[in-house]
Amino acid sequence: MLTITLLFAVTPILSSAIPVEQVSHGDATLTYGTKVALSKRTSITAGGDSVANVSAILNHRTSRIAKVHKGFSAYERNTGRAHPLAGGSNVAKRSNGAVTLDDDHNDMWQGAITIGMPPQRFTVDFDTGSSDLFVANIWCHENCDGHNVYHAEHSNTSKALFKPFRLSYGDGSFVAGLQYTETVSISNITVENQTMGSASLYSEGFGPNAFPADGLMGMGFQSISEYKATPVFQNLVSQNKTDDAVFAFKLTKDGSELHIGGLNNASYKGNLTYVNVTEQGFWQVNMDSVTVNGNQTVGNTSVIIDTGTTLIIGNSPAVKSIYAAIPGSKETSGGMYTFPCDAVPDVSLTFGGKTFNISRDVFNMGKSSDSSTECLGGIVGADEQDYWIVGDIFLRNVYSAFDVGKGRVGFADLA
Ligand SMILES: *[C@@H]1O[C@H](CO)[C@@H](O)[C@H](O)[C@H]1NC(C)=O
Ligand SMILES: *[C@@H]1O[C@H](CO)[C@@H](O)[C@H](O)[C@H]1NC(C)=O
Ligand SMILES: *[C@@H]1O[C@H](CO)[C@@H](O)[C@H](O)[C@H]1NC(C)=O
Ligand SMILES: *[C@@H]1O[C@H](CO)[C@@H](O)[C@H](O)[C@H]1NC(C)=O
Ligand SMILES: *[C@@H]1O[C@H](CO)[C@@H](O)[C@H](O)[C@H]1NC(C)=O
Ligand SMILES: *[C@@H]1O[C@H](CO)[C@@H](O)[C@H](O)[C@H]1NC(C)=O
Ligand SMILES: *[C@@H]1O[C@H](CO)[C@@H](O)[C@H](O)[C@H]1NC(C)=O
Ligand SMILES: *[C@@H]1O[C@H](CO)[C@@H](O)[C@H](O)[C@H]1NC(C)=O
Ligand SMILES: *[C@@H]1O[C@H](CO)[C@@H](O)[C@H](O)[C@H]1NC(C)=O
Ligand SMILES: *[C@@H]1O[C@H](CO)[C@@H](O)[C@H](O)[C@H]1NC(C)=O
Ligand SMILES: *[C@@H]1O[C@H](CO)[C@@H](O)[C@H](O)[C@H]1NC(C)=O
Repeated sequence: MLTITLLFAVTPILSSAIPVEQVSHGDATLTYGTKVALSKRTSITAGGDSVANVSAILNHRTSRIAKVHKGFSAYERNTGRAHPLAGGSNVAKRSNGAVTLDDDHNDMWQGAITIGMPPQRFTVDFDTGSSDLFVANIWCHENCDGHNVYHAEHSNTSKALFKPFRLSYGDGSFVAGLQYTETVSISNITVENQTMGSASLYSEGFGPNAFPADGLMGMGFQSISEYKATPVFQNLVSQNKTDDAVFAFKLTKDGSELHIGGLNNASYKGNLTYVNVTEQGFWQVNMDSVTVNGNQTVGNTSVIIDTGTTLIIGNSPAVKSIYAAIPGSKETSGGMYTFPCDAVPDVSLTFGGKTFNISRDVFNMGKSSDSSTECLGGIVGADEQDYWIVGDIFLRNVYSAFDVGKGRVGFADLA
């Protein structure tokens, strides 16, 4: 039974009031159960009396919507048909958006992997909302100082594919370079012939201050791969490196982990409640409802489960109806809403008939300004979409399992 647990850390960005402890890359090791990196202050929400960083929240919302649109475009190129959720979203228009974001990539769940033989070590952002692996290479000069870079010439498993790639985020940031196949290890599990991007260009948004990980590992399905290649986890499964085609996250303040090849039964209690993936691209499932203070506000909706998104981003009318059920709430700007800080609502999401609560601490992103008694809620609206993106504001409250073998997502209460 090959199951390993990789512990890792979140690097917070959305709060500014509490100093962010820098994640150390120095003590990263790759043995079983090793703490790869851990910041003490892990909450991405300022919460309580702290002031939320409104511009960071707005940038984050824009860039995550842009990321999903990038996936829609790749899906259409790979499958020859429009992504079923792309309908209302006007992908072409959005992906040409001119907003340039510098430092919105900070909140991420990162841990260590190695690439090549002998192994070269990198930290990567584990992102269920995309499907490609990339790191920077030795030719990357701008924005790459401070990142570990890939030396193809030092690896005897490196194979150039002579195929360029460019991953453009609709927010103006991008990475570009050449594709290789390589040997990739996560903890002690090794996969061969993995298609990866060796980037000689990182835009400013991927500089080490904005993007503390060295690179990114997409954990979605192949149909949204820009390389049109098998993603790392699916490759690992097809190379028989695990008995159980499942990976699972615990994303909490006190020790976050990614478990590869099954569930860590010490991290959850009760049984998992599973919902089937409705379209294998993103981790897309149906959410039954959203409940506010005991009252159901939103019914059955398509959602994308994304570890690479901090917020819960819903479509505007549904989000409006959620806050309409919260006494004293007000719409501010950019799809955000406030509620009185002394009355944080109880919000929960229901999947597969089971209701999971969002803790008040997590839902409350902090005061809307220094002198305000109004706090910002972790669910924000977007006009352009009918679907939802469900990120850390929800995922921090549950144990989440991504079952590649059975095409389903499972949630359980944390142990
Ligand atoms: C808020 O976040 C932005 C990044 O979006 C950053 O440039 C700015 O310094 C932050 N503000 C504070 C007060 O930390
Ligand atoms: C590749 O590198 C590894 C690690 O340095 C070494 O053990 C192996 O013999 C090398 N293989 C070849 C074919 O050179
Ligand atoms: C990886 O480590 C785990 C825990 O020590 C062990 O059970 C497993 O057999 C190891 N896998 C490999 C491929 O060495
Ligand atoms: C990797 O590719 C090489 C050459 O194409 C092939 O010989 C080898 O069997 C492949 N390994 C795996 C694990 O697929
Ligand atoms: C994986 O296991 C299956 C079934 O046991 C086998 O058919 C297949 O060849 C194996 N693949 C590799 C890459 O070893
Ligand atoms: C967790 O899994 C291990 C190994 O599969 C098993 O020995 C143990 O009994 C399980 N614990 C619980 C609480 O199910
Ligand atoms: C979990 O599922 C098993 C098998 O279906 C059942 O026997 C058990 O009672 C369930 N446990 C809980 C806590 O619901
Ligand atoms: C989920 O998919 C499995 C098979 O892929 C099917 O047996 C099951 O009925 C589906 N569940 C629901 C609730 O649709
Ligand atoms: C639920 O909604 C009903 C009808 O709008 C309202 O009367 C009731 O106060 C709400 N309950 C709570 C707990 O907010
Ligand atoms: C939920 O909506 C989806 C389409 O978005 C539909 O396929 C599914 O049957 C609906 N489920 C229920 C329980 O109504
Ligand atoms: C979820 O919150 C409701 C109140 O809104 C509470 O009654 C229930 O016990 C909570 N469930 C869990 C598992 O904490």
